[in-house]
Parts: sequence; C-alpha cells; structure tokens
Amino acid sequence: MSTRPLCILGAGYVGLVSGACLAEAGAAGDAPVLCLDVDDALVARLCRGELPLHEPGLAELVARGLGSGRLAFSSDPERVHGARVVLVSVGTWARRGDDRTDVSHVHAAARSVAPFLADDALVVTRSTVPVGTTRALGVELARLTGRPIAVASNPEFLREGSAIADFMHPPRVVIGCAPGPAGDDAAALLGTLYAPLGAPVLRLSLESAELAKYAANALLATKVSFMNELSALCEVAGADVAAIADALALDPRIGPGHLTPGPGLGGSCLPKDLRALAEMAEAHGVAAHVARGVLAADAAHKRRLADGILALAPRRVAVLGLSFKADTSDLRSSPSLDLITTLRGHGLTITAHDPHAATAPAARPLLPADVALAPDPYAACAGADVTVLATEWDSYRSLDLARVAATMRGRHLVDLRAVIAPAAALAAGLDLHTLGQPRPSAPATPVNRQSTSLSAHD
Ligand SMILES: NC(=O)c1ccc[n+]([C@@H]2O[C@H](COP(=O)([O-])OP(=O)(O)OC[C@H]3O[C@@H](n4cnc5c(N)ncnc54)[C@H](O)[C@@H]3O)[C@@H](O)[C@H]2O)c1
Repeated sequence: MSTRPLCILGAGYVGLVSGACLAEAGAAGDAPVLCLDVDDALVARLCRGELPLHEPGLAELVARGLGSGRLAFSSDPERVHGARVVLVSVGTWARRGDDRTDVSHVHAAARSVAPFLADDALVVTRSTVPVGTTRALGVELARLTGRPIAVASNPEFLREGSAIADFMHPPRVVIGCAPGPAGDDAAALLGTLYAPLGAPVLRLSLESAELAKYAANALLATKVSFMNELSALCEVAGADVAAIADALALDPRIGPGHLTPGPGLGGSCLPKDLRALAEMAEAHGVAAHVARGVLAADAAHKRRLADGILALAPRRVAVLGLSFKADTSDLRSSPSLDLITTLRGHGLTITAHDPHAATAPAARPLLPADVALAPDPYAACAGADVTVLATEWDSYRSLDLARVAATMRGRHLVDLRAVIAPAAALAAGLDLHTLGQPRPSAPATPVNRQSTSLSAHD
C-alpha cells in the first residue's frame, strides 16, 4: 500500500468530490489525499469541514476524511512534495468574448507545483481540456523542471447531484497516455489507483481521452436538445413526448438517459463543452455542423419557452427552482436564471424560490436586482399569474397544489420538468402546461407549424 500523498490541484466541485472519494477508498494508503487550492478562504472553510456547495453525501465523506487524517486541504504548493500522482482539477471555462477554452488555470496550477514535483511524479489532467493540452503540459513541465515529467489524461465524467455514486461506481474509467514505457507506467499507476472502483479501465491515447470527454457531453447535449425540439412537434401534432421517450428508452441503440424535455441545456459542463467542441473542431479546420446545430436548437428552445410563458399574458410570475438541476446548488449556466432574466426584460414582476438554503443568496448577484426571493414556494406563488416549475427538486413533487392555487392570482402552472401529475393539477383547479404533451384542441396537422405556446391540460 502506498504511503505517498496523492495530490489534487483545485478543490472545487470535481477536486473536492475526487479528494473525498479517493480518501474514502484509501487511495493513498496511510498518506493523505491532499487537495490544494489557490482560494485561501475556500481552503480555510474546507479545513473546518464546511462545504461551499450542496452535493448529497459529500459533507459526511469530507468529515470522515478530515477526521481520519486521510483527507487534507492546503493552499501551499510545496505540500505536493513527495506525491506520486498529481491530479489537476481546476476550472477550464470559456474565455471571455469567445467560446475558446481557457486552460490558463491548468498551466498555472502545474507551474505552481513544478519546483516541488518528485522525479517520478505523474501529472494527470482531470479537468476537461481541449485536445493537445495534456501533451503541451508535459512539454511545459519538462521545460520548467529540466527533467521529463510524465503526464496523462483522465477526464472526469461525474454528474452533479449524484457525484459520489458516479465517482465510486463509474461505468468506465478513461485513461489517456502516450505510447511507450512511460505511458505504460502511467496507465498501470492509474489503473491501480482506480482498481478499488471495479470499473473497466480504458486506455486511450492522450488526444482520444481528452476528446472523449467532449464527445460524451456533446452527445448528451444533442440527445437533450433533440427531445426538447421533439416536444414542440408533439404539442402541435397531438403526440406525447413521454410515451415516445418510453419507446426510445427500450431501444438498446438509444438508451434511457436524457430523454426528458426540460428548460434547455444548463450547468457547468454540457453547454460549455458543446461550445468548446464546436470551437475546437473549427480551429482544426473541421466543420461542426451537429454541435452548432444543437447550440442553435437550444437557443430556439429557450426562446420558445419564454415566448410560451409570455403568451399567457402574465404580469407577475413565480419561478420555482434556481439551480440547473435538482440536488445541486450549482447555478452556473442555469436555464432558470436565464428564463428569469428574459421574463424580467419583458417587464414582468418575478418572485423566485429555491429549496436549498444556500442557493437563493448565491443567485442574488446573478439575477436582476428587482427579482424577489421568497422563503418558501407558496410565498413565491402569492399573487402570481403564472407559476413556472424550473428545477425538479423533490420538495416540489409534493407541493400542496390547492395551496398554490389559493395563493396565486392566475391559474397557470408551467411545469418544465414533468413532475406534477396532471390529475392533481386539475383537482386543484390549475391549468397545467407541460412540454411535449398533446394540446387537447391541437389540430393533427400541420405538424410543421411554429409552436410558441406550451401545451395545456384543461
Ligand atoms: N462540475 C462538474 O460537474 C464537472 C464534471 C466533470 C468534469 N468537470 C470539469 O472539471 C474541471 C473543474 O470543474 P469544477 O466544476 O470542479 O470547477 P470549480 O470552479 O468548482 O473548481 C475549480 C477550483 O480550482 C481552483 N483553482 C483555480 N486555479 C488554481 C490553481 N492555479 N491551483 C489550484 N487551484 C486552482 C479554484 O479556486 C476552484 O476552487 C473543469 O474542467 C470542468 O469542466 C466538471
């Protein structure tokens, strides 16, 4: 069993989950899994066991890791000393002004630890990085240290909201290594690190591993956007997108995931990685018809939803849910925030709610100043002409709809997540609008009519 520390650069979403899970799995043996971050305030909070984000089960894992001494946090790059494996999990967001990925944090993180790297250290990009980044990192580290430093790519595929299960039970682990003995050693080392997870380990080239991550997210984004677009057709053609999804899900060529229409692409990965893939392809002189088409479809879908709500002629709208999906407090690229901003731009009065205590305050600076934040969903709905359910938090599944109806001024409930049972809405006297459900009065044709309103269950 190893007694050398395992080091993670970046203690954000991926770094923190990876650190806590690897510590739990005893990946560094008696030595700690050490998460290094440049954010001193974050490190101080993490050392006290305070989490900056909501992820089910993570607080318990971090507390256990800190308690056993298997997990530690620091902002001192010198602490990398002695580590055999250094995982780089810093942010790789789009550069301001274009969609190109900013890999400066990856290089900065590696540069900060370069003087303290052991001769046999393996530096691994876990961040989602454009093709060629890991190889370039190896060149930079060799230049900085004056000796060859082994590098590998090991993209992370976890989903927020189920990050611990995804990390501990991944469907596969992708490892990208250069050919030759150094690559073989790197693959063997990472294979041993992940062996306790029991997942198939795929060894790819550096470039293939980097691109595999973008390909996965772009394909998922395509599936989501396809279902969103299909929902518009279903509404005017008298078809039921949920029934179609059931039929699709049983086809092994398609699979069951990402078949539910919703408010559009969101979160810190899917839209970013889709854009980055398009940008990357075009930078290599390759057309990105599919990725560009999906981006356009997503923008059109979000416009359609906003138009559908505006067509209900509301003056006051309640929006339930701010995070981009349930079980995470992550607000990055949340479609709910975009929708609120669009509706507010049309002069509507908006009151919003999110059930996670930290989410609403974190959303405050991201929202127009005059959007009110309510302490509970019923307060948000008070006086609303339209209530929009934007995030599928469990607590919204059990809303007292009679109470919602009683507190609203209007009757329209727009459920973008298909969590409200039509019969329950009907019983409460609400007009339920959902995505991709046949409008009772919809003509069977023409199916190509532009749909700007959402279907209603009267
Ligand atoms: N969030 C997800 O669901 C997810 C899933 C899979 C992959 N990814 C990818 O993982 C990467 C990280 O994503 P995230 O959501 O964890 O980002 P994040 O913003 O939550 O965390 C990044 C952390 O890196 C730190 N950092 C920045 N520069 C640093 C440096 N020089 N040295 C040390 N730390 C530094 C920041 O302070 C921050 O705490 C991205 O490439 C992302 O695309 C994210």
